[in-house]
Amino acid sequence: MELSTLVEDGQPGWTRRVFSDAYKQSRALVKTMMQVAGLAVTLDPAGNLIGKLGGGDPELPPLVVGSHSDTVSAGGRFDGMVGVVAAVEVARILAGHGGALRHPLWIVDFLGEEPNQFGISCLGSRAVTGHLTAEHLALRDETGASLGDALRTSGCRPDELASTRWPDGSLHAYLELHIEQGARLERAGRQIGVVTCIAGISRASIDIEGRADHAGTTPMDLRRDALQGAAELVLGTEVIGRVQEADEDGVATAGRLLVEPNSTNVVPARALLNVELRSVFETWLRNRSTDLETLAGRVASSRSLAVTVQWVSQGDPVPCDPRLRRILSQSAARVGTVPLELPSGASHDAAHIARIAPIAMLFIPSRDGRSHCPEEWSDPWEVTLGAKALLQAVLDVDGAAL
Ligand code: GLV
Ligand code: MN
Ligand code: MN
Repeated sequence: MELSTLVEDGQPGWTRRVFSDAYKQSRALVKTMMQVAGLAVTLDPAGNLIGKLGGGDPELPPLVVGSHSDTVSAGGRFDGMVGVVAAVEVARILAGHGGALRHPLWIVDFLGEEPNQFGISCLGSRAVTGHLTAEHLALRDETGASLGDALRTSGCRPDELASTRWPDGSLHAYLELHIEQGARLERAGRQIGVVTCIAGISRASIDIEGRADHAGTTPMDLRRDALQGAAELVLGTEVIGRVQEADEDGVATAGRLLVEPNSTNVVPARALLNVELRSVFETWLRNRSTDLETLAGRVASSRSLAVTVQWVSQGDPVPCDPRLRRILSQSAARVGTVPLELPSGASHDAAHIARIAPIAMLFIPSRDGRSHCPEEWSDPWEVTLGAKALLQAVLDVDGAAL
């Protein structure tokens, strides 16, 4: 709740986007929370805030627990924050019982997990796995500023990203507590979820170029209207999202549209559309990506538009580690719950960390399944139970040979 007071002026909901002043303030608060918990805090070159607690055997690789503290525009107070705050609380309790863990414990508030004005998400978790590339750093926002510039301005050191990398196999395990952001737990009357698989996401930035013309004098058959082309792509995205194939399904969203010149009396010259496809099924994702490209080609030729589909990111579905899943189910049972195994339609930093370490996730319920909106809510007792399950999971995973 204290974090949720730090929001961007004049923005709806609980908006605290990466690179905003409110985000900088919130991270100062998280840093203080980590220090008060007894952690040694560093900010790595990628802007990840890391609080470290020594383990009984300093030779062992760290057990890492993390999430994020940025929000989407007009977002909620729980997505990400629950995982960060609960992880700090777990560390605070363990720090008060010196030597409780064998492994060093790292608590991480990853930089900018939500998609930003450069069209890319999970900046911090991509960086530590070596997947924040020079091409990503060169991505530009609408003002022409690059992601690299934005990182530099906010105190990160993008030129030193190589040194921030966590090598393959250098972590004991990665755990993340998160709100479900859907309604399965609530519907099943369960308090804790253990994630089976994190959906893969394919994100496309579609540039539709037509021609600006006078809206009063240009006959309908002579127009090259970029917004009409975009409209066809928006509706086509919905059709693509409804495709079911061999028991496999997914979702598709056209979530962002910019129009130029955006004037009432000018035929739209250009439209920029962002589309994402998500599924836990790799084949579905691949086939729907092809469908979207085919549709873009059809719209281009039937409307004499230039349509370019650029895949900004294409992440495969990420299964959680089966051994960790078993341990987390037992941990959840040990704190008195009957856990539900479920997939995650939302993406998470964990999906990136999976490239270098075994990962697993715990979910707590989201009221009415609402998320990425101001109404996002989990009851305090649900957050507390999630934190207890996370503490138990940290103890159990610390003791396990993986
Ligand atoms: C992150 O919240 C995502 O799934 O987009
Ligand atoms: Mn989110
Ligand atoms: Mn999140």
